[in-house]
Amino acid sequence: MPTSFVLPVQPIIMSEPRQILVTSALPYANGSIHLGHMLEYIQTDIWVRFQKQRGNQCIYVCADDAHGSAIMLRAEKEGITPEALIAGVQAEHSGDFADFLVNFDNFHSTHAEENRELATGIYLKLRDAGHIATRSVTQYFDPDKGMFLADRFIKGTCPKCAAEDQYGDNCEKCGATYEPTELKDPRSAISGATPVLRDSKHFFFKLPDFEAMLKQWTRSGTLQDAVANKIAEWLDGGLQEWDISRDAPYFGFEIPDEPGKYFYVWLDAPVGYMASFKNLCKRRPELDFDAFWNKDSTAELYHFIGKDIVNFHTLFWPAMLEGAGYRKPTAVNVHGYLTVNGQKMSKSRGTFIKARTYLDHLNPEYLRYYYASKLSRGVDDLDLNLEDFVQKVNSDLVGKVVNIASRCAGFIHKGNAGVMVDANPEPLLWDTFQAAAPAIAEAYEHRDFGRAMREIMALADLANAWIADKAPWALNKVEGKQAEVQEICAFGVNLFRQLVIFLKPVLPNLSADAESFLNVAPLSWQDHALRLANHQLNPFTPLLTRIEPAKIDAMIEASKEDLAAQSTEAAAPQGNGELVKEPLAAEINFDAFAAVDLRIALIEKCEFVEGADKLLRLTLDIGDAKRNVFSGIKSAYPDPSKLEGRLTLYVANLAPRKMKFGISEGMVLAAGPGGEEIFLLSPDAGAKPGQRVH
Ligand code: 2FM
Ligand code: ZN
Repeated sequence: MPTSFVLPVQPIIMSEPRQILVTSALPYANGSIHLGHMLEYIQTDIWVRFQKQRGNQCIYVCADDAHGSAIMLRAEKEGITPEALIAGVQAEHSGDFADFLVNFDNFHSTHAEENRELATGIYLKLRDAGHIATRSVTQYFDPDKGMFLADRFIKGTCPKCAAEDQYGDNCEKCGATYEPTELKDPRSAISGATPVLRDSKHFFFKLPDFEAMLKQWTRSGTLQDAVANKIAEWLDGGLQEWDISRDAPYFGFEIPDEPGKYFYVWLDAPVGYMASFKNLCKRRPELDFDAFWNKDSTAELYHFIGKDIVNFHTLFWPAMLEGAGYRKPTAVNVHGYLTVNGQKMSKSRGTFIKARTYLDHLNPEYLRYYYASKLSRGVDDLDLNLEDFVQKVNSDLVGKVVNIASRCAGFIHKGNAGVMVDANPEPLLWDTFQAAAPAIAEAYEHRDFGRAMREIMALADLANAWIADKAPWALNKVEGKQAEVQEICAFGVNLFRQLVIFLKPVLPNLSADAESFLNVAPLSWQDHALRLANHQLNPFTPLLTRIEPAKIDAMIEASKEDLAAQSTEAAAPQGNGELVKEPLAAEINFDAFAAVDLRIALIEKCEFVEGADKLLRLTLDIGDAKRNVFSGIKSAYPDPSKLEGRLTLYVANLAPRKMKFGISEGMVLAAGPGGEEIFLLSPDAGAKPGQRVH
C-alpha cells in the first residue's frame, strides 16, 4: 500500500531560507571537555539543528583554541611539541562532541594557516588605519625560564592579608585584587625563581577609537539586556587600550614585521571563527566566505558564549571586525555557568564530570533533554540536579513521549499488519497540536528551550490522557471494536510523530530511530502539518530506556577515580628529568611539610579492582595497622602481585576518600609522567613498616 499523507487545509508558506553562521566558544586545547562546556555546545547545537530543520542554511563552526603560554608549558611538561599536544587534544575533543551529537559543520584549530592569514590581515588593517599603539611595559620576568610571567604564573604573599601562596593578581583568601608587583615574596610558579622586573615593547589595540560604535552596537538588540547593562557600565567607565602582544617564547603567531613578538591568544582566538568557516568553504564550494563576512553581508552571525568571556566578544571582537572592514555579529548569546547539585563542580565530590566519563555511563540524549528543559534566553546559572535529572528524563521522555508509540504500535502490528489507517478521531486534539507549533518554534528561535520543552510535554500529557481515556487495550477485547482500536492507535502514532518533529533538535538519535519506526524520510519542521494515513510502519523497537540511578552513582565514582589517577600523576614529578624540567611547586614552610605524615608501608596485597580502568587496590601494613588504598598506577603494573612484599612511601594522614569500590585511606607515592612510566617509590633496605619519613 502506498504511503499517503493527509494534507493541511492551509498550504505552508516558507519565507526565503535564511543564511546563518553560528559559533560556540573555542575550547582550550589543553584540557578535557566537561559537562560545563557541554552546556554551551548542546545549547548551540539544538539551536542550529532547529534552524536546519526549518530549512534555513545554517552553518555551525568551532575550533580548538590552541595558542598561549599554558599550552606551550603543558607540552613542555609532557615532553612533546605543542603541535603534537594540540593534535591529540583536537582528536579527543572531536570525539567527545560527536558522541554528544554536537554536529559541527567544521571543527578546526586556531593554529592553522587560514587563521594566521586572517589574524595577520586584520592586524595589518588595524595598524595601517592607526588603531595600533606601542609602548614599553614593565613586567615580571623569570630569569631561569627566560620568559615574562603572566599574572597566574606568579605566586607570593598577599599584600593585604598576608596569606601565602596567592596568585599574582588576586587573593583567594581575602578577595583583594592587586598588581603582581605588590605581592610580597614573589616567585615564578613555573620555575620557583624570584622574578625580576624587565621592560619590553608591547602592542596595543586602541579600543577607545571604537567607543561610539560600541555604544550604539551594544544597544541595538545584539545583546541580552543584562549583558548590555553590564557592558554599559564598562563603556561609561571609559575604555582602555588592549595589550595584544606577548614576548617569545610563546606558542602563537608572530606579529608581522616584529620578530620575537606574538599575538596574544585572545587576539587570534575569535578570528578562529572566521578561519574555521574559511576552511569549510574549501570543502563546500557553495559557501562564499565573503558573503558571510563582508561589511554588507546579509547573512546572520551568532556567537554563543559563557558569561565569563563577554568583554572579548562584545567589545574587542566587534571593534576588531569594524576596524578591519568586516561585518559585526548579529547577536552574541550569553549563557550562565553550570552547577551540579546546587554547587560548583567539585573534583572531590565527583561532580566534575568529564564529557567522556558521562558518555561511558549514560546516553547523551538524556543530558541534551535535561539541559534543554532548563535553558532559557537569560544568563542565569543552570543546575544539573542529578536526582531531578533522573526523574525528569524518565518521566518525560520514557514515561510520556516514547510511551505513546509503545502503547499504540503493538495493536497496529497485530491487528492491521503494521498499517496505520486514515483516522482523525479527535480533530480538536489534532488542532491543538497544530496550533502549538508556532509557539514551540518561537521558543526555539529565542533560545527559550525550557518553554519549548514545557509546551511539548503538555502536548504529550494530552495525548497520553486521550489514549488512556480511549483505552484501546480494553476496547480490543470487545467484539466488533477492532476498527476503532486501529483508529485510536493510528491517531496515537500520528501524535507521537508530531512530538518527534518538535523534539528533533534536542533528540537527534531518538528522532532518527523514530523515523525508521515510522518508515518516513527525515522529518522537517513543516512536516508537522501532515498526518500519516494508510501508511505501513516498521516494527517497533524500544526508543529509549529509563536512566538507572546506579549509572549516576557509577559516573560519580568514575569521576572520583579520574581524580585519583590524576593525583597519582600530580604527586609524581613528570617528565624524564633530562629533557623536561618539572616546574617546582609553590614553596611551603616547614610546618606545612611537617603536617604531612609520611610513613613506610609494606604492600601486603595488591590486586585489580573490578570495573576500574586505572586503579589497583593495595592492602598496606603500616606497622600497627592495615590500610586500604586505591592508587591509579594500574597502567604501569600489569601484574599487581609483583608489588606484593615491597616497601613504599605512604601519606598516612590524607583524609579518607569514599569511592565506588570502597574507602581509600591515604596515598602511596610514585614518580614518572604516567602511563607505563610510573615508578613506585621505595626506601633503602632496612626500613620498617610504620616508620615515619623525615
Ligand atoms: O574561555 C575560553 O575557553 C576560550 N578558549 C574561548 C575562546 S572563544 C573565541 F573567542 F575564540
Ligand atoms: Zn589576601
